[in-house]
Amino acid sequence: MLRRQLPVYSPVDASAIARGLLAACAPRSGEALSARLSEALKTRYHARAVLLTDSGTSALRLAIAGATEEGDRSVALPGYGCYDLSTAAEGAGAQVVLYDLSPRDLGPDPASLERLRRIGPTAVVVAHLFGYPVDVQSVRDALPGAILIEDAAQGAGGRLGGRPLGSLGSVSVLSFGRGKGMTGGGGGALLGLDDVGVRIVERAREAIGGTVSGRGFRQLLQTAAQLVFGRPELYGIPSRLPFLHLGETVYHPPWPPRGPTIASLAVLEHMMPESDREVEVRRGHAARLERSVAESRHVRAVEPLREGRPGYLRLPVLLRDGTTTGGALRGVAGLGVTGMYPSTLAALPSLAPFRIGAEVPIPNAEALTRALTVLPTHRLLASSDFDALEAWLTSGGPDNKGVVSG
Ligand SMILES: Cc1ncc(COP(=O)(O)O)c(C=O)c1O
Repeated sequence: MLRRQLPVYSPVDASAIARGLLAACAPRSGEALSARLSEALKTRYHARAVLLTDSGTSALRLAIAGATEEGDRSVALPGYGCYDLSTAAEGAGAQVVLYDLSPRDLGPDPASLERLRRIGPTAVVVAHLFGYPVDVQSVRDALPGAILIEDAAQGAGGRLGGRPLGSLGSVSVLSFGRGKGMTGGGGGALLGLDDVGVRIVERAREAIGGTVSGRGFRQLLQTAAQLVFGRPELYGIPSRLPFLHLGETVYHPPWPPRGPTIASLAVLEHMMPESDREVEVRRGHAARLERSVAESRHVRAVEPLREGRPGYLRLPVLLRDGTTTGGALRGVAGLGVTGMYPSTLAALPSLAPFRIGAEVPIPNAEALTRALTVLPTHRLLASSDFDALEAWLTSGGPDNKGVVSG
């Protein structure tokens, strides 16, 4: 009864919690931890400047604020994605034009890019959803005047043209949140990769003031709870508690960006090597599931770019027409299969005062809210989970395996 598969998982172990506790009890360790992690991220992402933050949302807000300050304060965002994209742009006080995505590879829709070119935003955000690389060069080519902000919050382990996702923008954003593949239990980073990016990072450094923001005992407790209850045998308990909003896309109003907690830095530092190993596990699992997706009559694959290697934080698939409405997937939810973002960013009332360029239509984004479904890829999948997932994928669809349409 309690068994329930997680939709997404980031490695955390007991010794990481112990390291976090020790670091939080020695507040002066914060500076050294921050310096070591910043160096590690610089090397890993070929970055020239690094700023660690309390979250990916804060890093993105600082990126948008810094980039749009260089022009007329306008930024282009994907119309479909995590609501934190909107939170970040609102917090930055930017003017937001939404663009459409291509359901084929979840990158920007070429026709939409052409419309953006006519609007000429100061900055453009590209997001590698589920770790599927976006063709960053095509965005640069279409919008040569725009500052490219690469949102690699979901990009852990993904690569494009031999470089890691997170190393491809003028500024890039990382998240170390609990569902991001590489976690400190929270936190994020802003990376500066070129002259403009370095300028944005240094301005952001002044804006947040202070390398760390507190010891992070509470966050550490939440990370420890994740370690205990984030196992399939027990995940049924927290997932049934509505006030935890697990697996839901929740909108958060903007908050002032801060530095990371000391505990989160210690947890992250300890878990980095294991998180890298997890990428290979995800790739193997995704490859196995993709074989069934290829045979499926009711879902179809999202096609990764040929020159990219997804990090497969999750495996996105598209429900074929008529298979479902409202993302109703009864029967497979216990396997970690879920719908994704339930509405486009255009539907968020909080974003309305910031919007410009409403003439850019986002029909594919609308369609993705109904059709995009994600499968788990992580190491906690048991062979019985694979059997059930494969049976669902290769079944006749809604009428055969309890997948509800309507
Ligand atoms: C694409 C994207 N950008 C930014 C964020 C924000 O990251 P964080 O949760 O660390 O604030 C998320 C988180 O879900 C995300 O998916």
